[in-house]
Amino acid sequence: MTVRLRRANRQDWEVVHGLHHELYVKFRRSAFDAARWKLTAYRNLTTVLRSDVDRLLNDRSAFVFLAESVGFEAARRGDEATEALGYITGRTEVVPERELSRRGIVEDWFVVPGHRGTGVGEQLLTKATEHCRSIGCDVMESTTWPDNERAVALHEKAGFLPIELKMRRPL
Ligand SMILES: CC(C)(COP(=O)(O)OP(=O)(O)OC[C@H]1O[C@@H](n2cnc3c(N)ncnc32)[C@H](O)[C@@H]1OP(=O)(O)O)[C@@H](O)C(=O)NCCC(=O)NCCS
Repeated sequence: MTVRLRRANRQDWEVVHGLHHELYVKFRRSAFDAARWKLTAYRNLTTVLRSDVDRLLNDRSAFVFLAESVGFEAARRGDEATEALGYITGRTEVVPERELSRRGIVEDWFVVPGHRGTGVGEQLLTKATEHCRSIGCDVMESTTWPDNERAVALHEKAGFLPIELKMRRPL
C-alpha cells in the first residue's frame, strides 16, 4: 500500500466531513468519560461540524492535509482509487506581541483505527509543520488532553513541550 499526503480542496468536503465525524463523534465519545463529554458538548454538533469543514476548506488562513492509501494496482495503472486514512487541519495566526509571533495551530489530527501505529500520524504532523514553516511561521501549537498517551508521546517526539493544562468545571 502506498500512502499519499496532499492538501485537501473544496471537492474533498465529504471526505473531510467524514473524518471530522469519526474524530468528534465516534472517537471522542469513546475516549471521554461522561463528565468530560458534558463539559465539552455542543448544542448542535451536526451544524458545528459542517460549518467547521466549510471554514477549513474556504478560509485562506486554514489548511487541511489528507493521508490516502493508493491501492497498489490502482497506483500502477495511474488510477485514483484512494481511501482516506487520516487528516490534519489547522490555521495560522499572528500574535504581534509575542517574540514567536506567527503561529501554526493544529486543530484536528486523526488516523482511522486500522491504520494507527504505522507512521501515518507522524507523517501528517510533519506535513503540517513543513507547511507552516514554508509560509513563515516561527512556532507550532497543538492541543490534546493529558491522558491521550499516544498523542502526547507523538507531540513530544516531534519536539512539542506542554505549556498549559486547561481546567474546567460545570457551575
Ligand atoms: C494521534 C494519532 C493521530 C497518531 O497517529 P498514528 O498513525 O497512530 O501515529 P504514528 O504511527 O505516526 O506514531 C505512533 C507513535 O505514537 C506513540 N504511541 C503509539 N502507541 C502508543 C501507546 N499505546 N501509548 C503511548 N504512545 C504510543 C509512539 O510515540 C509512536 O511512535 P514510535 O513510532 O516511535 O513508536 C492517532 O493515534 C489518532 O488518530 N488517535 C485518535 C485521535 C487523536 O487522539 N488525535 C489527536 C488529538 S490531538
